[in-house]
Amino acid sequence: MIVCSCNVISDTDLAEGIATVRRENPHRPVTVGLVYKALGKKLNCGGCLPLTMQLLAELDPQSAERPSRRRRSGATGGAAAGFRAAASPESH
Ligand code: FES
Repeated sequence: MIVCSCNVISDTDLAEGIATVRRENPHRPVTVGLVYKALGKKLNCGGCLPLTMQLLAELDPQSAERPSRRRRSGATGGAAAGFRAAASPESH
């Protein structure tokens, strides 16, 4: 199955890329960027990201345990929203 049409990456290629990243550094978190780099590819349009991230989580469960940056910073703006509220003239 083709996962990334821009780079013609299959699910088998993705598994090989994950194995390469794991082999190079077993303790390093595996990211889509590292896997693409291991395959000699670069992310282009990003249309494949949802599927590649899902497959990455399935093929390398250790990767799925890492909290995403979006979740850590908060989907609603997190610290930035708090800063805006504190800086607002209405809050003074
Ligand atoms: S489909 Fe993967 S970068 Fe475009």
